[in-house]
Amino acid sequence: MLGQELARVFKDEDKTLWDIEDIDITKEMAAREKIEALAPDVIINAAAYNAVDKAEEEREKADLINGYAPGYLAKIANDIKAVLIHYSTDYVFEGEKKQGYFESDAPNPIGVYGASKALGEKKVQENLSRHYIIRLSRLFGKIGAGAGAKKSFVDTMIDLAKTNKELRVIDEEISSPTYAPDLAERTKFVLDSMAPYGIYHATNSGSCTWYEFAKEIFRLKKVDINLIKAKSEDFPRPARRPKFSVLLNTKLPEMRHWTDALAEYLNVNK
Ligand SMILES: NC(=O)c1ccc[n+]([C@@H]2O[C@H](COP(=O)([O-])OP(=O)(O)OC[C@H]3O[C@@H](n4cnc5c(N)ncnc54)[C@H](OP(=O)(O)O)[C@@H]3O)[C@@H](O)[C@H]2O)c1
Repeated sequence: MLGQELARVFKDEDKTLWDIEDIDITKEMAAREKIEALAPDVIINAAAYNAVDKAEEEREKADLINGYAPGYLAKIANDIKAVLIHYSTDYVFEGEKKQGYFESDAPNPIGVYGASKALGEKKVQENLSRHYIIRLSRLFGKIGAGAGAKKSFVDTMIDLAKTNKELRVIDEEISSPTYAPDLAERTKFVLDSMAPYGIYHATNSGSCTWYEFAKEIFRLKKVDINLIKAKSEDFPRPARRPKFSVLLNTKLPEMRHWTDALAEYLNVNK
């Protein structure tokens, strides 16, 4: 989802786009050979294992793709003197801090996916000083083309509304949606402005529960549906989720409100 928006935002740059068929980031030696032959100035890693619930039973796979592989990329980047941009998540936090999380707050994940992403942050930091770790939350935008691509919450809600008159949605888990094109633009901004290396938070501004997110989707799309507030316990899922995981942005200009980005994605006036 993010990769295709990065491709669009960097369209005028001298760049090479690789998908999983071109490079498997978990194969360290093969990845090193390809990257060293290309000798880029910047590596952007949008690859990830994003199945939050499935990760609970696939810890090794999640750790390899989200944890160790970004470490390999960081080592390679260090050897060829490149910059690495890597993405992380609000799920690296336990979600008990109602006022939100600063870039400098220590990760303390409560699920396997979050732990694998926290491992990736650590491995990147350990192996390379020239890194940008950009955390985001609730990505939405055009679905990715890959075999493992999953629909965003926005498209899932719109699809569910086609066959349901009533929907129950969790009115908990407060975080900030992130519009993929805005995140791609923000990535370019960080690079172009030569921001200091380190961790950045780049969600859209504002925050919501899943219920509030759904409510705004249906309001904007003018979908008449009976939306019912549910509790997290009403939908037992294998992975625990943070209750409050707003990512506070103290280093970059504020991004537009998530409802403005949502209106653009849905191609409607707010
Ligand atoms: N989506 C969210 O709500 C969300 C929230 C917070 C943070 N993030 C982070 O944001 C970043 C972008 O996420 P996204 O939603 O754009 O991800 P995505 O749509 O799931 O895309 C990830 C891509 O990585 C590929 N991939 C998986 N394993 C790979 C490997 N070993 N080598 C090379 N490529 C591999 C996948 O290929 P296949 O499809 O073929 O498997 C897929 O094309 C990730 O770092 C993610 O963790 C996402």
